[in-house]
Amino acid sequence: MTLLASRLSRIHPSPTLAMTARAAELKAQGQDIISLSAGEPDFATPDYVKEAAVRAIADEVTRYTAVEGLLGLRKVIQQKFAWDNGLAFEVDQIIVGNGAKQVIFNALLATVDEGDEVIIPTPYWVSYPDMVHVCSGTSVFVACSEAQQFKLTPAALEAAITPKTKWLILNSPNNPTGAVYQEAELKALAEVLMRYPHVSILSDDIYEYLVYDQTSFTTLATVAPALQDRILTVNGVSKSYSMTGWRIGYGAGPKSLIKAMTMVQSHSTSNACSISQVATITALTGPQDFLKVWVNTFQKRRNLALDLINATPGLSCLKPDGAFYLYINCAGVLGKVSPEGRTIHTDNDFTLYLLEKAGLASVSGDAFGLSPYIRISYALETDRLQESCYRIQKVVAELR
Ligand SMILES: Cc1ncc(COP(=O)(O)O)c(C=O)c1O
Repeated sequence: MTLLASRLSRIHPSPTLAMTARAAELKAQGQDIISLSAGEPDFATPDYVKEAAVRAIADEVTRYTAVEGLLGLRKVIQQKFAWDNGLAFEVDQIIVGNGAKQVIFNALLATVDEGDEVIIPTPYWVSYPDMVHVCSGTSVFVACSEAQQFKLTPAALEAAITPKTKWLILNSPNNPTGAVYQEAELKALAEVLMRYPHVSILSDDIYEYLVYDQTSFTTLATVAPALQDRILTVNGVSKSYSMTGWRIGYGAGPKSLIKAMTMVQSHSTSNACSISQVATITALTGPQDFLKVWVNTFQKRRNLALDLINATPGLSCLKPDGAFYLYINCAGVLGKVSPEGRTIHTDNDFTLYLLEKAGLASVSGDAFGLSPYIRISYALETDRLQESCYRIQKVVAELR
């Protein structure tokens, strides 16, 4: 008998680990390594949120809270859904967890049995498949090509649904592509879903506020009210409020599902941090004007990086409408040879080349289920981002 459970054989270590380890090694040798792999904004958490947390400590809000979260916070989340999304939830349709990640994990643990299928449009956020596999479910990957702007089409969705389908996971704005589903596109998917009442939908809206130009955000529960009793809408403060370390995410959906998720959470972490919950009340109800500034900054950085990447022979990138990533097509560099004589066969080889030659840590499309691409994050200072793009241009030009 081995110590490790068999479920561990179904999951993979984080695909970025090797890259992170090599980047740390080079950094330790004194090299100037720029990380383009960050999944979090580089801005500081707003001061008014930090001050609320300090007050919460002084006020002794330092004990267990209800597993599903402080009533005061769930009321604020209820309001947020009403104002932003036109969705009416009762407070017992809302759960607060340690990040959107735990909320999603709770939902899958509470619902996925061995052999149940979860449809995951590809490319995907790296954690979805492994979470499904820990729950003994089966991931059904549906490729969403660049030609389709990396979005799921109704025909592809319908072809993937079987009697065993339990969930469809939608993520908009998307990590890693930045694709944002528009109302008509969601309505077309909803039409298919109406025909399959056994399929529930998890809508991961964590990048909701990070949309650019005239792009508008909407979510499936808003555009398809008839599906509302089958949708879990997930959101949180990590990305939009620069609060990744505070670990607050939330989900809203059918009462029975929320109750089951609460039970799962009650036996794992209990409540999310009481202090972070109070800070989140303040984040969601306080002045939101910083958001405009952040979105503007992200948009400028996106444009800067996009122009430089698209001016690099061998690379190309669709303009992403949201989040803070570029998903760069690197098909044009495959088969080329480095000055040291090493051939770039895969996107993974390309990320290693960028690390060794340009001192840039990025993530290969392989990790997100769609090659040949690399993902870079533009959540870093503008001059460092610009410097990174120049480095990419230089080392790509050295390939033969
Ligand atoms: C698409 C997506 N969903 C969920 C999460 C998790 O967010 P949280 O920090 O709230 O757990 C991330 C974080 O990278 C993400 O990219």
